[in-house]
Amino acid sequence: MSDEKLQNVLSSLSQTTSRLGSLPPGRPAPDSTYVKLNTNENPFPLPKVVMEDAVAALERQYLYPEEDNLGLRVAAATAYGLNKDQVIAGNGSSELLGLVYKAFLAPGDSVAMMSPGFSFNRKLAALQGARFLEIEWKDPHSLPTEELLFGPAKDAKFLVIANPNNPTGTFAPIASIERFLARSDHLIVLDEAYVDFAPENGLRLVNRYPNLLLLRTFSKSYATAGIRVGFGFGHPELIGRLRNTQNVFNMNVIGHAVGISVLAHRAAYDENHRSIRHERERVGAALSRLGFSVMPSHANFLLARVPDEHGGKWWQDALEQQKILVAFFPERTLENCIRISIGTRADMDAFIAAATGIAERLNTDKSRGPDSKQDQAPLAGRDVRSSC
Ligand SMILES: Cc1ncc(COP(=O)(O)O)c(C=O)c1O
Repeated sequence: MSDEKLQNVLSSLSQTTSRLGSLPPGRPAPDSTYVKLNTNENPFPLPKVVMEDAVAALERQYLYPEEDNLGLRVAAATAYGLNKDQVIAGNGSSELLGLVYKAFLAPGDSVAMMSPGFSFNRKLAALQGARFLEIEWKDPHSLPTEELLFGPAKDAKFLVIANPNNPTGTFAPIASIERFLARSDHLIVLDEAYVDFAPENGLRLVNRYPNLLLLRTFSKSYATAGIRVGFGFGHPELIGRLRNTQNVFNMNVIGHAVGISVLAHRAAYDENHRSIRHERERVGAALSRLGFSVMPSHANFLLARVPDEHGGKWWQDALEQQKILVAFFPERTLENCIRISIGTRADMDAFIAAATGIAERLNTDKSRGPDSKQDQAPLAGRDVRSSC
């Protein structure tokens, strides 16, 4: 296709996607020799019984999956003490988050998120042509009710709160969220992607507050990120409107079978969750010894401020050279941080060894003086802020 023809086609289309631009080509997927600690997956195998149910579902591959995800919704409703009309199921909670933006926002509306937060929300707002307000979460251990009720977010169509939050891992007590729900007449989307690693959850609020939409995913705590199972819980009217905007046959037969099986065997994950909490503490302590400043986390990851002037991107690159992938966020408040997902003990041993090696080399180079090789590493000398 000629350039001119391409420009004609693009300009004839909605300008929404031109605001976002097109995705860059992307890098090849890392091979299995990398330790992948950058997207908060749960790297343990499925319990045997869940795996058997997944394999059995393959024999129904020629059928469309059940309409409206009914069996999965009934199973989730039963497991969580709700009624099926209070439950929507989707391909991970990111599909459901996308539906919320599509169903409840028009161009020119505004939407708010506690910040720093899950950056996918920014993209979803842009896709709707909506204004995206980031409300700084100064004290992440409680919700700033007055500021939310009377500040810039007061006219937002809905507010997104991730609890535990990503990328900080911090957790606000449910009582502080309930206080806000009770006073606000706006929709609150409470994203509990990481809640199985936290001390309490907001499920009991679903029957009390029609302005609450609770999102859950099995990607993080039930090791099914590649199968895509997520839920939304809320008032039947809200849920019904979302179900009505959902793609027909959105999930597949394996997602249904795995979701139902996980719901029936949640106790089989107790050891998995215990191990992740244990490794989280172990890695946090090791990072503190290396001079990192680590946020106390209630999720399956840690956000850590790097110990030197090199910044988060430098550390991400240095770790990648050792075949360890961690996350970096370019936002000003996070540029000195890296986020490390918590994997198996072996994964975390590899991470600690690589981080220790890098820190030791930096210390050696520092003691040799400013001309040493490592001090001239790619991002040395950039503007460094103390925030994380
Ligand atoms: C806060 C938060 N919400 C939602 C999701 C989406 O998870 P999934 O689409 O795998 O269910 C993520 C994934 O990283 C997340 O961090």
